[in-house]
Amino acid sequence: MLEQAATLNPQKFIRRNTALTETPLVPEIKLHVASEFLPLWQMTEDEMAQVGLPPPFWAFAWAGGQAMARFLIDHPEYVAGKKVLDFGAGSGLAGIGAAKAGAARVTASEIDAIAVASILLNARENNVAIDALEADLVGILDGGWDVVLAADVCYEGPAAARIVTWLGQLVSNGVTVLMGDPGRTYFPKTGHEKLISYAVKTTRELEDTDLRNTSVWRLLGPAAG
Ligand SMILES: C[S@@+](CC[C@H](N)C(=O)[O-])C[C@H]1O[C@@H](n2cnc3c(N)ncnc32)[C@H](O)[C@@H]1O
Repeated sequence: MLEQAATLNPQKFIRRNTALTETPLVPEIKLHVASEFLPLWQMTEDEMAQVGLPPPFWAFAWAGGQAMARFLIDHPEYVAGKKVLDFGAGSGLAGIGAAKAGAARVTASEIDAIAVASILLNARENNVAIDALEADLVGILDGGWDVVLAADVCYEGPAAARIVTWLGQLVSNGVTVLMGDPGRTYFPKTGHEKLISYAVKTTRELEDTDLRNTSVWRLLGPAAG
């Protein structure tokens, strides 16, 4: 019988196909990380007996998430005591950083069901509490968040435009929006201020280089490409 472990128990699938690993820029956070991207994607589809599943973004510590988590742990005043959304959370790295920095509540959102399982697993491994939602929250303006984190979410043109428009609306509503980005093509060119930059160690499974110069930005209002 084709194994249905991922459908029935995604955390078991994650444990089996990743290793709990220190995050290069944030060694105080350990994540379930994979060593290879395409084989894991293929395995996910094989094990779930489905095609067209999203890529396993959840299995890697993206440069934007690493920069965001480092920044929040070192500058807890941005999130301490606040209600925080980690949008497009992947592994949950940025949200775990926010929780470690003293956020009152952290919610993570993902459109990939396996990512939701990985967020919960990684939160537990790091002894923090995170609520994880399988939802596309783009357009929701009354979520009750004080701070929204968006790390490495500008990797596809139309999707990035939609996300950035929404994030700008949140800023207009008084929400603090922080973005982590290593210079992706669709990251907006205006409407933000740079808070910090890091040289982030990443993997050639994801990038064409071992180090990415990555910044954390605060959105100031509607942003434009
Ligand atoms: C490149 S990964 C970055 C993950 C994580 N933030 C990090 O920095 O490690 C982008 C993630 O955004 C998620 N995503 C894309 N569009 C989304 C949406 N509308 N709502 C929630 N998650 C979304 C993807 O599933 C993917 O896991």
